[in-house]
Amino acid sequence: MKIVFFNFFFFFCLLQPCICDDTITRTQSMRDGDLIFSEGKTFAFGFFSLGVSKLRYVGIWYAQISEQTVVWVANRDRPMNDTSGVIRFSSRGNLCIYASVNTRKPLWSTNVSDSIVEPTLVARLSTLGNLVLLDSVTEKGFWESFDHPTDSSLPFMRLGFTRKDGLDRILTSWKSPGDPGSGTFTLRINRTGFPQLILYKGLIPWWRTGSWTGLRWSGAVFQILFVNNQDEVSMTNRVMDASVITRMMVNETGYMQRLTWSAGEKRWNLFWSIPKEECDYYAHCGLNGYCHPASSEACTCLPGFEPKRPRDWLLRDYTGGCSRNNKTSLCREKEGFVKLTHTKIPDTSIASVDLNITLKECEQRCLLNCSCVAYASAYHEGVGGEKGCLTWHGDMLDTRSFLDSGQDLYIRVDREELERWNKTGSLGKRRVIFIVIGLTAALMLLAVISLCFVRKRRKSNRHRRFPTTLPPGSFNISDTLRFEEDQGREWELPLFELNTIATATNNFAFRNKLGEGGFGPVYKGVLENGMEIAVKRLSKNSGQGMEEFKNEVKLISKLQHRNLVRMLGCCVELEEKMLVYEYLPNKSLDYFIFDEEQRAELAWPKRMEIICGIARGILYLHQDSRLRIIHRDLKASNVLLDNEMIPKIADFGMARIFGGNQIRGCTNRVVGT
Ligand SMILES: *[C@@H]1O[C@H](CO)[C@@H](O)[C@H](O)[C@H]1NC(C)=O
Ligand SMILES: *[C@@H]1O[C@H](CO)[C@@H](O)[C@H](O)[C@H]1NC(C)=O
Ligand SMILES: *[C@@H]1O[C@H](CO)[C@@H](O)[C@H](O)[C@H]1NC(C)=O
Ligand SMILES: *[C@@H]1O[C@H](CO)[C@@H](O)[C@H](O)[C@H]1NC(C)=O
Ligand SMILES: *[C@@H]1O[C@H](CO)[C@@H](O)[C@H](O)[C@H]1NC(C)=O
Ligand SMILES: *[C@@H]1O[C@H](CO)[C@@H](O)[C@H](O)[C@H]1NC(C)=O
Ligand SMILES: *[C@@H]1O[C@H](CO)[C@@H](O)[C@H](O)[C@H]1NC(C)=O
Ligand SMILES: *[C@@H]1O[C@H](CO)[C@@H](O)[C@H](O)[C@H]1NC(C)=O
Repeated sequence: MKIVFFNFFFFFCLLQPCICDDTITRTQSMRDGDLIFSEGKTFAFGFFSLGVSKLRYVGIWYAQISEQTVVWVANRDRPMNDTSGVIRFSSRGNLCIYASVNTRKPLWSTNVSDSIVEPTLVARLSTLGNLVLLDSVTEKGFWESFDHPTDSSLPFMRLGFTRKDGLDRILTSWKSPGDPGSGTFTLRINRTGFPQLILYKGLIPWWRTGSWTGLRWSGAVFQILFVNNQDEVSMTNRVMDASVITRMMVNETGYMQRLTWSAGEKRWNLFWSIPKEECDYYAHCGLNGYCHPASSEACTCLPGFEPKRPRDWLLRDYTGGCSRNNKTSLCREKEGFVKLTHTKIPDTSIASVDLNITLKECEQRCLLNCSCVAYASAYHEGVGGEKGCLTWHGDMLDTRSFLDSGQDLYIRVDREELERWNKTGSLGKRRVIFIVIGLTAALMLLAVISLCFVRKRRKSNRHRRFPTTLPPGSFNISDTLRFEEDQGREWELPLFELNTIATATNNFAFRNKLGEGGFGPVYKGVLENGMEIAVKRLSKNSGQGMEEFKNEVKLISKLQHRNLVRMLGCCVELEEKMLVYEYLPNKSLDYFIFDEEQRAELAWPKRMEIICGIARGILYLHQDSRLRIIHRDLKASNVLLDNEMIPKIADFGMARIFGGNQIRGCTNRVVGT
């Protein structure tokens, strides 16, 4: 709330002989209560306080809007304690703030290094809200407040740095709404590598625009002018309509915002605010991760990479990031590039830049350099003209996808990975249709979630019925089920003890039963730590052996998508086989759409979101996951809803896995819906 009421000072102004002009001359001074206005009275410059505080600051605010808004503060870190402050020129020509008429040492100064001798020196508040020190005769400027912003950027003000005199215009948030002192968050153009605008929390990157591509920041969409030449790198806000009152700011809690004043409603409207989703936060998915905007948990790895600590990823801890999925290094035969569209390209501070070559040459350069892992164009020129070359030579950070903005990124992959991508990429939609038609097809049967065939009954099956009472402590198995993978890599999935599950579900009490799937009952449980789970207990005569079960668990634990129900682990003890899932409180979709009353709760926009969510889940199964899976039983009752009504596809009991390159198949048996 940077709301300050100034009526008092307007009143003051009428009584006192004050400077009611837009300039202070070299011989004049301003007392607390004096104001100067820009021509047209858009902005005012003078002393102010915030809220109930008695501290006095000097700054610039909008003179004509009712909710008074401070856009610049001179002495932000050194306020005055009372109203005896004064503004006047020092003998060397700096505009200074003194605590009182008699103090010699200024609280704040424009700090122009060379003495200004011009007698016609004035400070003038421009119509844009810029306080400028200039020679009123020659109009030669010496200093301007636009070069020393606080937390707000006004139209036509530049952010960024000059290459010669070391000027760096950065926005620094206030400490709190009542304290304009220098806060934690800063917004600046980082000059390392290829320049990009970064919002920092202290020294840590918080949000990154992405690089300038000539059209717009490849991340954000707003009207700005970008300059990158031998003199400076800067961006300027542009307004198309001068009557629009708008400002951009970094607020106290780390959001970069654009606000516009609504004269009708008499308030500031938030035009946009960033960061707004998980993917916006810097490096949310860790090293070599790839963040998808539609979801807060949609971290995947860049092509050719896989999670370094898969188990952490299951628990949504992505900090470990991704490492190359084939340990042999790059730079072998027939390598190529996977093209990712609509991306925020990785942090360019670690990129190599050459503005003078084409994208084609860039590809060649990257391919010939064994350390090069990705490339992208540096800027756009003309229609479709991708120019310049950015190459990355190590881990890539903070890559994400956008729905409709962003630029193309080319990731270097080996031949195997390339083939995999070529298949998914080029066949596109037709492929999906083929797969849907191919519902009647078969290669190998994957009964992923609720399937339980026991082909080989274990000898140890001593006709124990479960649940009865569990002898305490009799079920000790290691914490983790380890699956040996090809090349000796391991996939880990948490293994729950039967005891734990039995306790959580009150010994599989009837009142805990959520329903009965095709392959066994589902129970609701609460773990000791309070986490709610859903337990799918495979019936014993499901004809499935241990190897197959393990295989299935392994497969499904690799599926990760915001629109698929998430598996937390499994339980294999005695003849029991159980799968443990996240519990979703909002039941399933059929509960809503087939019920007269519940139906009304689902507004059309929400339904649309749900439909899109299901479609994304299916697209992932069919095309984007590492396995190619057909659900075969997609219906409203198999779509669960979480507490935000985000749909999650469940019940893979009839699902089938397809060969990676298979696009159709046949079956004689018709199942599911
Ligand atoms: C305001 O008061 C504080 C505490 O009494 C003192 O430390 C500070 O120097 C004063 N500031 C000015 C400008 O007099
Ligand atoms: C004035 O500028 C000098 C260097 O140009 C710097 O060291 C000093 O801290 C500045 N003083 C203020 C009050 O900004
Ligand atoms: C720019 O980014 C690099 C790499 O992230 C960092 O080391 C450097 O300190 C940053 N520079 C500024 C001025 O923030
Ligand atoms: C900063 O902006 C965010 C997003 O608009 C808002 O949620 C938050 O309350 C703001 N912080 C302050 C201190 O105004
Ligand atoms: C890793 O690369 C080698 C050599 O090209 C290849 O034989 C192997 O199949 C690759 N492994 C994977 C998992 O892609
Ligand atoms: C860019 O390339 C052209 C032709 O290849 C060359 O004439 C020019 O000097 C280069 N410019 C820079 C800055 O390297
Ligand atoms: C590969 O690119 C890096 C970064 O531009 C450079 O330092 C290195 O010399 C290049 N290596 C070769 C073999 O060209
Ligand atoms: C992948 O597709 C591209 C073009 O679509 C083609 O040039 C390349 O040879 C293909 N690579 C493989 C390994 O199939």
